[in-house]
Amino acid sequence: MNNEIINALLTRRSVRSYKPQQVTDDELRTVLETGTYAPTSMGRQDPWIVAVQNAGLRQELTEMNAKVMGVDSDPYYGAPTIVLVFATKGARNAVQDASLALGNMMNAAHAIGLGSCWINRELEMFDTPLGRSIMQRLGLPEGLTCVGALSLGYIDKQPAAPKPRKANYYRVVK
Ligand SMILES: Cc1cc2nc3c(=O)[nH]c(=O)nc-3n(C[C@H](O)[C@H](O)[C@H](O)COP(=O)(O)O)c2cc1C
Repeated sequence: MNNEIINALLTRRSVRSYKPQQVTDDELRTVLETGTYAPTSMGRQDPWIVAVQNAGLRQELTEMNAKVMGVDSDPYYGAPTIVLVFATKGARNAVQDASLALGNMMNAAHAIGLGSCWINRELEMFDTPLGRSIMQRLGLPEGLTCVGALSLGYIDKQPAAPKPRKANYYRVVK
């Protein structure tokens, strides 16, 4: 089917190499706005979305994430923007709500020509005294967990073609 949205959904890939140049405020707002329109359980709008462009804080997040991962490399691949998505700790649909916001934003980023990649380990990073102090600094309420993050920026190296989809990925029962 020839449809712009379907085409964007089918062609988004995880980007792991970014240019240092920052995305424009307009581009960032566009991406973040799509996160806020993802469906949420009972329409509660539980997720809290924080886009980090501050160099000092990005460095802190990079070090925290690398520590959890046990590596020296940058888990955010040098992306100039890191988008964190928090939700209420222990809420029945915290992960579902936040994941849909993350998904919307990845697809929106791709649709406007930006690269993004879901980056893990935020759960562990923010379940520490340093993580909690950062949440305070960000002005977030108590009792949140960080479900995931996105690296976001202009694409430096195009990602490889997608792997073929597994056999019987979906089936139709009529
Ligand atoms: C829950 C989740 C966690 C992920 N964590 C990471 C990560 O920490 N680092 C990374 O490079 N990619 C991460 N990814 C991206 C996946 O590796 C990627 O989506 C997958 O390989 C398929 O590639 P594609 O996104 O290009 O289709 C994550 C994806 C999901 C959904």
